[in-house]
Amino acid sequence: MIPHAPKPLNETQEDDYEFEYEKTKQIRWYDKILLNRPIKVILISLVVAVVAPVLIYRFLFFTSIDLPPADGFSFGSCLVARTLRLPCGYANVNSEQCHPHCCYDFRSKTCFHRFPSRFSYVMDRVWDEDVVLSARVATIPFSFQNSLPRIKLSIDEVSKSHLSLNFYNPALVEIPHGNRLEEKNYFYDVASPELNVVVNSTERMIFNTNRGPLVASQNIWELTFWLTNESMYGLGEIPLEKTTKVLYNHNGGISGIPLIFAKSGHSYHGILIEAVAPTVITIRKENQIVLRSITSLGVKLHLFVGPKPADIMRDVRNLLGVNKRMEYWMFGAHICSETTPNTALTVTQLNNFINTLGRQNVPFDSHCGVSPIIWDNDCTRAKITLVNNGARAVRNARKRFIPHMKPYIMYHEEMEQEEEEEPDIVLPRTATRPPACFDVRPFRSMMLQSNSGGFYKGLVKDEKVIYPDYKNISLEFIQKMWVYNLPIDGMLLEDTWPLDESDKKVDNMQNYLPYFNKYLEAAFNHTPKWNATRTDGKIYMHNHNEYGNYYVDSLKEVLGEVPTFTSSQFLSGKIIINRQNVSTTWSGLHREITEAALGGASGNWLWSSPICGDTEHLEINTHNNLCVKWYMAATYMPMIKIHSRDGGRDPLSFEGTHRTLMINAMRTRISLAPYFYTVLQNGPLLRPMFFQYPEIDQLKDTSTQFSVGNDLLIVPNLQPSQSHVHVWLPSESWYELWSGLKIEGNVGDAVTMTTTESDFLTMVRAGSIIVLQKDVTLTAVDTRLRSQYSLTIALKCSNETLIDETEEEDEEEGEDEEEEGEDKVDEGEETVRKQHRMKQKEVIEEEADENEEEKNTETDIKCHAKGELFMSESMTMIFKADDKSLTIQAEGEDFDILCKPSGALWANVIREIILYGLNADLNNFDNFKQIRTSINLCQLQTETQIVFYYDD
Ligand SMILES: *[C@@H]1O[C@H](CO)[C@@H](O)[C@H](O)[C@H]1NC(C)=O
Ligand SMILES: *[C@@H]1O[C@H](CO)[C@@H](O)[C@H](O)[C@H]1NC(C)=O
Ligand SMILES: *[C@@H]1O[C@H](CO)[C@@H](O)[C@H](O)[C@H]1NC(C)=O
Ligand SMILES: *[C@@H]1O[C@H](CO)[C@@H](O)[C@H](O)[C@H]1NC(C)=O
Ligand SMILES: *[C@@H]1O[C@H](CO)[C@@H](O)[C@H](O)[C@H]1NC(C)=O
Repeated sequence: MIPHAPKPLNETQEDDYEFEYEKTKQIRWYDKILLNRPIKVILISLVVAVVAPVLIYRFLFFTSIDLPPADGFSFGSCLVARTLRLPCGYANVNSEQCHPHCCYDFRSKTCFHRFPSRFSYVMDRVWDEDVVLSARVATIPFSFQNSLPRIKLSIDEVSKSHLSLNFYNPALVEIPHGNRLEEKNYFYDVASPELNVVVNSTERMIFNTNRGPLVASQNIWELTFWLTNESMYGLGEIPLEKTTKVLYNHNGGISGIPLIFAKSGHSYHGILIEAVAPTVITIRKENQIVLRSITSLGVKLHLFVGPKPADIMRDVRNLLGVNKRMEYWMFGAHICSETTPNTALTVTQLNNFINTLGRQNVPFDSHCGVSPIIWDNDCTRAKITLVNNGARAVRNARKRFIPHMKPYIMYHEEMEQEEEEEPDIVLPRTATRPPACFDVRPFRSMMLQSNSGGFYKGLVKDEKVIYPDYKNISLEFIQKMWVYNLPIDGMLLEDTWPLDESDKKVDNMQNYLPYFNKYLEAAFNHTPKWNATRTDGKIYMHNHNEYGNYYVDSLKEVLGEVPTFTSSQFLSGKIIINRQNVSTTWSGLHREITEAALGGASGNWLWSSPICGDTEHLEINTHNNLCVKWYMAATYMPMIKIHSRDGGRDPLSFEGTHRTLMINAMRTRISLAPYFYTVLQNGPLLRPMFFQYPEIDQLKDTSTQFSVGNDLLIVPNLQPSQSHVHVWLPSESWYELWSGLKIEGNVGDAVTMTTTESDFLTMVRAGSIIVLQKDVTLTAVDTRLRSQYSLTIALKCSNETLIDETEEEDEEEGEDEEEEGEDKVDEGEETVRKQHRMKQKEVIEEEADENEEEKNTETDIKCHAKGELFMSESMTMIFKADDKSLTIQAEGEDFDILCKPSGALWANVIREIILYGLNADLNNFDNFKQIRTSINLCQLQTETQIVFYYDD
């Protein structure tokens, strides 16, 4: 018989009451007694005095008779508070299916682990990398499979603030000994003889397996750990609470990397789960994290010490590699239309569409041409020509051509007729058949059916497709696939999970896999069958998550190092995330913003999101208000895509005010692009509150407002017909970005602002200078060169003296430096910066001397603001302002980029200055002073700085 939890004692009573309240009609006699306070007290005393010893005695009696832990290691107790119980195998089973080394609760019918769990590993000496860990229990709770008798643990000290834990099966994988460092910000302890791993940072515990289960067997590894007793963020959630997530790339999966931020006191630490096989992560009550992976090899975790979220991001970027090629055109919208599935536009339609967008002043920078490209060995001339002409039309309109490509190949019966060397029979058919561009047979590069050896055939939009195994594909193959004779500016890879819509029979999965559930079923549903075979004979599923990476790599080999967007990736920092399969709903909008912000915080700064979703069935009339807000939110996304399927999502598909508001939002985005470009040099664009303001406790769980760089804050409408939005202030003073209306309050205070259909609350931080280019032309790149600048100076005013002010500035610059450090700014640049800082200080001191009188009046109000415009690696404009003047300096010598008559990329004239925060009597508009001027930045070629006085 299986030992079971004795009837709950005091510790679990609260939970039980909850349970009973839900079912008040079925209150039983003993519950009535328990619910009655005086009787309860008496009863509890009775329980404690008499019943409990009896129960415990009985309980000990059972277990020690039936299940002595033969190894003499920890006994484990079933007296575990309900919220802390960890499911032992499947939790909801009957008592016979519950493993004898687990506990069973007859009341809730759950099978759970003892504490400490018996499913663990032991060692006969103190842990080191060579020590073999032996299983305590011979079978595991999943299908009573055999445990792996021996596993190993390798700990790699990657850097001062990053270590990895690798639990692995030494029979199948070999792992070199981990690195050891002298100096590091963490300590770890591997307990022996019974395995338990604890990692501490310098001041707190950041990881603990907590004597929980470690299950290792064929096709299932389970590990439980704890990171914090406070809040967590990640896997698409702010905050990350009780939930289940699957790490298996599919059309509803996580696009970014599986990184969890954990808050503890005023610090953060992080964990990255490196899982190439299907993995289910369950966050349970009390923040226990249960990781179950369908693998036989092991589990690898990366731990980052922090202490700030930005430190974690820096380490993650060091691990994954980064894409430094942020090109300016990427800020422009990318447009693609699929009229009906698998039908292309004609070139005339495409030309008309592009021309109409131009007439309506809709800026965009890239287009996918007549239709997405689907690989097909049918080499009909007309099809190829159509794609080529579409690309030419896009380029003639001075836009970038970014083809959309899928990973699979259209399947035709003759592809598989392999050994038939009977030309007489084949010939008549070839005559009617279009010529083949490539032959898939000799390459043996396709995924195969598990049993027959034939190609694995999937289904996409009711068409049969086959899947190349890009991990092992020849260059020649891709060269033949790419039948188009045209240059590309980038590529956007869709459906790279890869997609397979064929019917999957998953009824009896328990017969094949020890662990399977509805979450995995959903993930498996639209991906190739789990047991398809790769070219190396292995089961497909185990390396599924890498598929997208290999597709990207093999295309790049042939098409060159162009910016590459992809819908799925595995721990890759070099690609641009392409969000796909986004539903057109208000919650879809909220999720997109949250995911983009978390993605950026996790290191994927280049992130593209489809405006107003990209699935089918868009109803213009019901969705137009949502789409308008989505366009406004998209103003602040790192990258945007307008992807039309059967319903158009481009502004031309909407009418009247809706269309106007959408076009305005797209133009606003381009006018802010100089700021975005500057921000993206040193950090993500869109940022969650916990990331940007880790020190402000009140904001940590806020997911209704987001930072855009350091200086902007957006508060999106997240509900239909919303008339108000609440903003929680991260610092005292802000201005509404377009009106200059001052918004003040204490840090953490909520301020309520009214909003209308045409509003999207955006605030600028007092103390910052935002560079805009308001004369938006038809592309981001063209606007950068042609539009003169407008500076929005948001002054931060205080009664502090000048000396205080400089101190504060030093502090801020210190922070900037830290941020730059992450991207290994080379030393030279750093010295230039320092020199400049010295110069600036002198300037300030000089000014201070001049204004001797003012300095002496203590209560005098001082205002200041600063900002930057990054133009190239060797040219940044530095702006500083106070309430009298604006000072501009150039950092770097690359004046060609703005002054060369032909070949400049940037405009060089400031035409307008808008000042927020001056005394009201100095304003010439309600809340601001507007100054029209003409400052030529090329003057800085000969002068060290330009000083512009507002009064002149
Ligand atoms: C980690 O910290 C806890 C207390 O927070 C302490 O009991 C434990 O010994 C520390 N472990 C290591 C390996 O430093
Ligand atoms: C988390 O644990 C620490 C020590 O283990 C304790 O001091 C702190 O109060 C706990 N925080 C919460 C929110 O439970
Ligand atoms: C692959 O899995 C399916 C169930 O999903 C099963 O019917 C089939 O027999 C399996 N093939 C092999 C070779 O195991
Ligand atoms: C790669 O493909 C070739 C056949 O083209 C095959 O012989 C080889 O085993 C494959 N290698 C791997 C690692 O899949
Ligand atoms: C600044 O000075 C004004 C009066 O000039 C005063 O009302 C205000 O409280 C002062 N603010 C601070 C922060 O000292």
